[in-house]
Amino acid sequence: MSLESFVRGLPKAELHVHIEGTLEPELMFELAERNGIELPYGSVDEVRAAYEFTDLQSFLDIYYAGASVLVTADDFHDLMAAYLERAMADGVRRAEVFFDPQTHTERDIPISVVFDGFARAQATFADRISTDLILCFLRHLTPGDAVATLQEALPHRDRFIAVGLDSSEVGNPPGQFVDAYRLASDEGLRLVAHAGEEGPASYVREALDVLGVERIDHGPRAADEPDLVARLVEQATPLTMCPLSNQRLQVFPDLRDHNLGDFLAAGAKVTVNSDDPAYFGGYIGDNYLAIADALDLSEADLVVLARNSLEATFLPDAEKAALVAELDAYAKRGRA
Ligand code: HPA
Ligand code: ZN
Repeated sequence: MSLESFVRGLPKAELHVHIEGTLEPELMFELAERNGIELPYGSVDEVRAAYEFTDLQSFLDIYYAGASVLVTADDFHDLMAAYLERAMADGVRRAEVFFDPQTHTERDIPISVVFDGFARAQATFADRISTDLILCFLRHLTPGDAVATLQEALPHRDRFIAVGLDSSEVGNPPGQFVDAYRLASDEGLRLVAHAGEEGPASYVREALDVLGVERIDHGPRAADEPDLVARLVEQATPLTMCPLSNQRLQVFPDLRDHNLGDFLAAGAKVTVNSDDPAYFGGYIGDNYLAIADALDLSEADLVVLARNSLEATFLPDAEKAALVAELDAYAKRGRA
């Protein structure tokens, strides 16, 4: 079996994917036409040509503009269904999927429309892939907006399992969002946050200490503080890393410089994920293959990454154990 087939078949979990970041240009055009929305692009090729990013903000500007084609529950359904098809083809057994409600409610789309569309796709695929939603707060908006967004979502409490924090990191430290996280925690929601992508190691510490997050999304900048890395290892805090995103947003312009291998060698619970695959040139399998190639990772390393991903899910222990057993059986057969 080729390395590519081995990687795509590896039972794994995706823990860091923004559903709005899975909007492929073809679907963007289809939805724009369906909803009578004018796009600032003449063709799919023109859209892809615009995906040259210098940093996180240069991406976010285009990403939020793209999301404007999402209007009806059918649109949110089609987006989720397309992602789940691709995830299944990459061996994903469990996906914990971010969505940005504020990107939609700001355009007067009711949050119930968003949930209804997603739920229909999740139900269609439920016998083949386990999925849950993570509601993300946009950190470029105010802490009060985050609380209001969570309150608006709470009538649909059974539709999501966790909250996260995304958007422009530098200058928007995680601790500002403590009230929204406290409310989420009181509601029994699990907690994650983007930290240490472009922002400093201190934001990673703040996310752990002030927000009480259980996973760090991205986190490579934590490497700037060896004590913090030691703590992440000691506490087995999962890091949901996204190699192709880091490359395309110039965090590590050359993937051979990526520090994922250092975290892995230190014994940190590193995972590989796709972030915004329609914008960064690859889904989760492509991310495994790209980082394996750049860092010369072994087959055993790839199995560790997949095992970490399954163990880092928010699934009940018995379901986690069943997926890990499936991975172990697959790894034992190897590439023969
Ligand atoms: N970082 C912050 N916010 C985001 C990202 C990211 O990589 N992708 C989508 N929103
Ligand atoms: Zn992200």
